Amino acid sequence: MPAEVLARARDVRKSYGVVKALDGVSLELREGEILGLLGPNGSGKTTLIKILMGFIRPDSGYVEVLGMDPYDNPDVRARIGYVPEELALYNSLTPKELFDLVARIRRLEPAAYARRLDLLVSSLGLKDRMDDLIGSLSRGNKQKVAIILALLHEPDILLLDEPIVGLDPAVARIFKELLYEMRDRGCAIMFSTHILEVAEAICDRIIIMHKGKVVAEGAVEDVLKLAAREKTLEEVFLEVTGKAHEVYEVIKALRGEA
Ligand SMILES: Nc1ncnc2c1ncn2[C@@H]1O[C@H](COP(=O)(O)OP(=O)(O)O)[C@@H](O)[C@H]1O
Ligand SMILES: [Mg+2]
Repeated sequence: MPAEVLARARDVRKSYGVVKALDGVSLELREGEILGLLGPNGSGKTTLIKILMGFIRPDSGYVEVLGMDPYDNPDVRARIGYVPEELALYNSLTPKELFDLVARIRRLEPAAYARRLDLLVSSLGLKDRMDDLIGSLSRGNKQKVAIILALLHEPDILLLDEPIVGLDPAVARIFKELLYEMRDRGCAIMFSTHILEVAEAICDRIIIMHKGKVVAEGAVEDVLKLAAREKTLEEVFLEVTGKAHEVYEVIKALRGEA
């Protein structure tokens, strides 16, 4: 049986004044996959994630998350794990206090919550910081708090907006393992990044965005293979999509070669 689509967007558009943040984006996010949303700054990644979260309503187009319109059904967020691009944590609470608060709001069963929290805190190495004020933590440790908050309630969907920022490579590696564990249990994961190597290392499938549009989509190897062989890309892909040059330029920018 093909994997179930847990979130979808169809021809979604959202403008801010004259800026078309999203200019007709369609995608499907399936259970058991890690979809990378790759694109340079300003390409519309955060706007798309905010629309899937139901924070903002698109100007037009269709959005469905776990069978519901996320804007009209705030309850759907209880089944989503979210790491925002701009961390919004309570500086005057400790990580332990914040996790307990969220566990209560999400009505997590106490024993399961304790086990889950212990696993996440020990694998990410936050144990020694659990009783410090969040306001006193380093950027990397704050990022760990945000990641734990997203994973704590074992969501069906994870929407992660640049979650690797601020993590050192060893922690990023552990984070990847945590994502694989979620994926293997059927979680649908969408992961935005402007760093090509991150998408390459973590994602099963990628979508490349540029100026509010999807310019390429496919298995990571296929998209990168096309991008790596410019000639082939120009010749073959151009005919297929008419966007080969744009894809190549975006990939070059993401590699820091632009
Ligand atoms: N709240 C907003 N008000 C005005 N412009 C916005 C707002 N949010 C995003 N934009 C603009 O929309 C475009 C896409 O932004 P964003 O979705 O944040 O892209 P990304 O996450 O890929 O960097 C950018 O040009 C950005 O300046
Ligand atoms: Mg962004």
